[in-house]
Amino acid sequence: MSTTTLLSLLLLISTGAAITTLSSDIAALKAIKSSIKPTTIPSYTCLYSWDFTSDPCSPPHVTHFLCGLSCSGNRVTQLTFDSAGYVGTLSPLVSKLIQLITINLSDDKFSGAIPNSLFFLPNLQTLILGSNSFSGGIPPSISNLRSIQTLDISRNSLSGSLPNTLASLTELTRLDLSFNKLTGPITKLPKNIIQLALKGNSLNGFHQKQSFTELTQLEVVELSETRSPERFPAGSSLYPPSSKSI
Ligand SMILES: *[C@@H]1O[C@H](CO)[C@@H](O)[C@H](O)[C@H]1NC(C)=O
Repeated sequence: MSTTTLLSLLLLISTGAAITTLSSDIAALKAIKSSIKPTTIPSYTCLYSWDFTSDPCSPPHVTHFLCGLSCSGNRVTQLTFDSAGYVGTLSPLVSKLIQLITINLSDDKFSGAIPNSLFFLPNLQTLILGSNSFSGGIPPSISNLRSIQTLDISRNSLSGSLPNTLASLTELTRLDLSFNKLTGPITKLPKNIIQLALKGNSLNGFHQKQSFTELTQLEVVELSETRSPERFPAGSSLYPPSSKSI
């Protein structure tokens, strides 16, 4: 090795110019991209710019990894896809991205079940999967999303009943599960909920006052358009005058 080579190598190390994404994060990103039909990734989309010959988290992002993800240091913290109409499933390897804070895959064409592993992301604060075609149930393991604040899985094809573990999501302030195929009773809800939308399902049991009594923060409620014979009692304090639609 020449002195010049050695010097430039030392310089590179000392400036710390090269962030190298954690290899397990790269593997997860590759799995996520390959679970999407290539024909639904046209050249103008975020995912098209995901070219693994360059490093996902290393700036500058001039031609590669232009959008669709954000990093903090060498870890992926956000997955925010454009509404390009991506067709595919969500790879269970998404759960390897344990530093994820935000997932927003709204308005695409994801189908199949939401991978169970997703519900074990300890740092996830925002999960938005609205307006896709996800099916299957909401598993009790959702209670492992212990940092979750916003959960929007509206306008999908989720079925089954609400898990009775929902109440343990104490950070959750916004819950939108409207327009799915959920059935069964309304379970006990997280006590810090501010915005709640459950309409467009076949849920029943709105008369179960104990689901709502502890929700002191509740400001916005949308429960209408459920095929439910039950009604709130007239003048119920569960519908404060300030309620508006979301
Ligand atoms: C989620 O992504 C969509 C675009 O795909 C965007 O319109 C929406 O504002 C995002 N939601 C949040 C809360 O960032």
